[in-house]
Amino acid sequence: MFDDPKSAEIAARYEARAASDAALMRELGPAGFARRDEFLLPVGEDVGRFLHALILARRPARILELGTSYGYSTLYLADAARAVGAQVVTMELADYKQAHAREQLAEAGLADVVDFRLGDAVAMLAADPGPWDFVLLDIWKELYLPCFDAFYPKLSEEAVIASDNMIEPAMARPEVRLYREAVRAKADMQTALLPIGSGIEISVKWSAGNAKL
Ligand SMILES: C[S@@+](CC[C@H](N)C(=O)[O-])C[C@H]1O[C@@H](n2cnc3c(N)ncnc32)[C@H](O)[C@@H]1O
Repeated sequence: MFDDPKSAEIAARYEARAASDAALMRELGPAGFARRDEFLLPVGEDVGRFLHALILARRPARILELGTSYGYSTLYLADAARAVGAQVVTMELADYKQAHAREQLAEAGLADVVDFRLGDAVAMLAADPGPWDFVLLDIWKELYLPCFDAFYPKLSEEAVIASDNMIEPAMARPEVRLYREAVRAKADMQTALLPIGSGIEISVKWSAGNAKL
């Protein structure tokens, strides 16, 4: 599936860590939430493959990732980005997570495709003029709405937003609902919820009359 065998090798390593993280999280139960920064919290392989295919089909020029974490999803985005000549801008607050992601992506030979940005995503979004052609929204859930408000004016026509965790975990539902309502309130956004992984919502910016442009 990956465009490059090196990406597949790194992905296999991430899957092994995801499996051991999942086992530890099951063992910890609700107490695991306090230790969430130790875990990859990945979108998962099904969603990764779906995002990869979507990028190949949509051929965006500028991809935005909100929530790099340790780089699992960045690998899928960057492998597809390189195949279509795109660039990925990925934002993360935790320096040690970003450092790990940088190492993995460099080992995959994808360092040139990814612009790693460290800091608060909402502030960094305000500083970037855009445009954004493809967005993966997978930051802490209370930031979905402030992030959407910050990047929405900078979406290109026909931009795609993929937002994760729209179904699970249940505790995130009140926060993701605020995001969902904000997207549905926009006349130029078309949205569908897909039950893959933890629930991915795909929203496409499409203004009335766009087909005639
Ligand atoms: C669910 S994880 C991302 C998982 C990643 N997309 C993947 O699939 O591998 C969410 C990430 O958002 C980061 N984050 C939380 N608040 C942030 C903020 N204000 N700015 C940037 N990143 C933030 C967290 O540190 C965490 O690593």
